[in-house]
Amino acid sequence: MNPSPPTASSSPTDSPFRARAGELHCEDVSLTAIAAAVGTPVYVYSRADLIGRARAFLEAARSAAGDGALVCYAVKANANPALLRLLRETGLGADVTSGGELFLARHAGVEPDRIIYSGVGKRAEEIEEALVAGIRAIHIESEMELAAVAAAAARLGRVAPVGVRVNPNISAATHPYISTGLHSHKFGVPRERAVAILRAAAADPWLRPVGLAAHIGSQITDLDPFAQAARFLVSVADELADEGIRLEYLDCGGGLGIDYQGAAPGLADWVRVIGPVIGAAGYGLVVEPGRSIVGRAGALLTRVVYTKQQGDKRFVIADAGMTDLIRPTLYQAHHPIVPVAPAAGEEVVDVVGPICETSDFLARDRALPPLAAGDLLAVLHAGAYGFAMSSNYNGHLRPAEVLVEGDAFRVIRRRQTYADLIAGT
Ligand code: LLP
Repeated sequence: MNPSPPTASSSPTDSPFRARAGELHCEDVSLTAIAAAVGTPVYVYSRADLIGRARAFLEAARSAAGDGALVCYAVKANANPALLRLLRETGLGADVTSGGELFLARHAGVEPDRIIYSGVGKRAEEIEEALVAGIRAIHIESEMELAAVAAAAARLGRVAPVGVRVNPNISAATHPYISTGLHSHKFGVPRERAVAILRAAAADPWLRPVGLAAHIGSQITDLDPFAQAARFLVSVADELADEGIRLEYLDCGGGLGIDYQGAAPGLADWVRVIGPVIGAAGYGLVVEPGRSIVGRAGALLTRVVYTKQQGDKRFVIADAGMTDLIRPTLYQAHHPIVPVAPAAGEEVVDVVGPICETSDFLARDRALPPLAAGDLLAVLHAGAYGFAMSSNYNGHLRPAEVLVEGDAFRVIRRRQTYADLIAGT
């Protein structure tokens, strides 16, 4: 995810966003029509793409590791309630990271026994909410947290099913801010402590050890670290089995990358690398994909407000910026950008937003056809960690979200209004 050299952006062939009759469409709906009806900026999602990937994931996981395989969608990637409902209807569970995400998963109807709860800082009331809901497992990330869960379980008189997030000390080539599997990162506990925590859980009447999890990072496109992590999980679980502590499942986390710029492995390739390792050892498989399910299903549609030349630089000023999609700012991430009505020619520009920060850009030094005020741009592969990380900084309203199904579309989250800026004050 280094700053990209000037390249012409193009729409990847398997994207639901395709040019038709000289204009970009999502499925069978023209993006111009959506912008005219709903305004910009707006996130546009393809229902067919989302469901297609979710189904493919589930089928791949079941065929690699048996029918008990559980695909827990990482709610943090995109928590729109309409999308969560679609994923639940397709058969996915949920990986949640807060009481708020647990609420969202339950609101979407996700069955409690398909919900797992990961995260380093669960508060006592969040732990109680998870126990009352009866979720599949709370994934413990420290000894103090184990004590907090045991205390909550005793208070409520409910045995808590727990897993442990083990930190495998495996390096994954990705942006340092989204790499999580090294001992220098705050996530999980090293092997010996994971084993000790699961032993302690087995000895505590209020705790029931059920699983072991590892999540080594996000936007990883090399499959080898995943294979290493799967083998590592099996070896730790087998050590416990030798002591008579038999875990139900091993959770390989999420983290499969998508083709923002370079190529990325397919989801079936990923599952084929980890699934059989877990299945052959006799454990259930759990995975927690986020980006690889929802990333390509969404685009951020934005309109050019102005253009200007400043020294050597040509700026295209869009009505969306870091408050709508912070990934370029935060991780120097590359998102393909496609004009909705492509024109001939090319110029190298910075596509920037309206926010008062120099880091407010959607693309730098990007070759695009000449653009003028009023033109529409689609920022592709924006379904994951797009709206989810949006903010009201600079008094910017959070964008609307639209779901496309065939030749129809509907608003699945209205654009904020100024009233939202003072709500609760
Ligand atoms: N499981 C756990 C415990 C996680 O922490 C995450 C992501 C996932 C699953 C899902 O990972 P995925 O399949 O989506 O890679 N905001 C960053 C990504 C942060 C990922 C945080 N954890 C970005 O925009 O690239």
